[in-house]
Amino acid sequence: MNHSSKVLPASVLLMVAGAKGAVASTLAVAAAHLRTDPESIHHSLTTAGLFPDLPPFYAIDFVGWDRMDAPLITAIESHGVLPKTIWADHQAVLNDRVIRPAPSSNIPWQDQIDQVTADIEYYKSLYPKSQAVLINLLPAGKRIDMENLKTAEMLFKALSPTDFPDLTYVLAAVRAGIPVVNFSPNTVEVRPIVDEAVTRDVPIAGCDGKTGQTYFKVALASALKARGLFVDGWYSLNLLGNADGKNLMDPERAAGKVANKTELLDEILGYRVGNRYGRPTHTVRIDYYPPRGDAKEAWDVVDFNGLFGLPMSIRLNLHGRDSILAAPMVIDLARWMVALKQAGRSGLIPELGFFFKKPMGANPPLTFQDQVRALEKLAGECGQ
Ligand SMILES: NC(=O)c1ccc[n+]([C@@H]2O[C@H](COP(=O)([O-])OP(=O)(O)OC[C@H]3O[C@@H](n4cnc5c(N)ncnc54)[C@H](O)[C@@H]3O)[C@@H](O)[C@H]2O)c1
Repeated sequence: MNHSSKVLPASVLLMVAGAKGAVASTLAVAAAHLRTDPESIHHSLTTAGLFPDLPPFYAIDFVGWDRMDAPLITAIESHGVLPKTIWADHQAVLNDRVIRPAPSSNIPWQDQIDQVTADIEYYKSLYPKSQAVLINLLPAGKRIDMENLKTAEMLFKALSPTDFPDLTYVLAAVRAGIPVVNFSPNTVEVRPIVDEAVTRDVPIAGCDGKTGQTYFKVALASALKARGLFVDGWYSLNLLGNADGKNLMDPERAAGKVANKTELLDEILGYRVGNRYGRPTHTVRIDYYPPRGDAKEAWDVVDFNGLFGLPMSIRLNLHGRDSILAAPMVIDLARWMVALKQAGRSGLIPELGFFFKKPMGANPPLTFQDQVRALEKLAGECGQ
């Protein structure tokens, strides 16, 4: 089927912070491809058959911000995620995507928010019939405890916008009434932002997309738990050669991601893995290994005990593709957010825990089964 000759329907408009990154640029190509050949990739979307009242699943537009000056096409080429044969036919559309520069980190925080707010208004004017969602795909940053920062003023006073650029985009989006997907491991779900989101009827979903190793870890841990098999230790190694992997070489930046990948196992199982050794035996390592590029490799060694405590183990070796796994999830999440906003949901959406390593909000579902069930229930709330 070719939709290019038709009048384009209203779309879901992705406003992407970090629009030229590996995930975002893959997303831009997927959005272009959906317009011309939706059938060839619709199976990658879990929402393709949902939400008939929304713009169709193939109607996705893309704008955003990045610090990088190079054109989007150059970014696509340099990330090396997609062979040229996949994006060559979409060059004209990709060249037309409007990606504005990130606000300078040298101007006051409020001025940065004002700049992003003006950009949002401009993007809305370009796509007046579209339903916008902010997608946070900025690099992993520092992790700090923001629990005590209860007002926007406290936030501005305690933090530097250079260290927490995500907050600039998220605040501007929430104030403009735009739902937010926080795919990064960075904390944006702070009290002042969530309060404002509730006041303005804006849903927020996050954080840290659960794309590869952790997705399978949740499924496997849930299966072991369901059979009463005791997990004695779990060693997880990630070999990652893209910019995200390089960035995560910095221990301060990796801390949040490693914590998100680690904490969930004990939460799923309901006990502390390694307790009998007096120390955790769930280890997660992320190593930057350039030859892998975006084609990340993950190794898992799972030691577990059965009847009479007799030991057994599983080896799992994932040869994944980070951005290929992530991009369709972002589209699905954006469509969920539009549906949830229409259904009147606001604030954090813990029921979307299926998509995240660290689902934000009260009592998120933890096991794989509960996460799937929560999604089905949420679909019911959205009239499915
Ligand atoms: N790929 C996955 O499987 C996966 C899974 C979970 C989470 N994530 C997270 O998604 C995020 C994006 O991943 P990626 O691989 O695309 O990273 P990336 O480093 O390739 O992309 C980040 C982009 O953000 C841009 N940027 C940096 N600072 C900016 C600013 N202040 N304003 C606007 N743009 C800015 C960079 O120039 C770059 O283009 C990361 O936080 C990563 O940890 C990825």
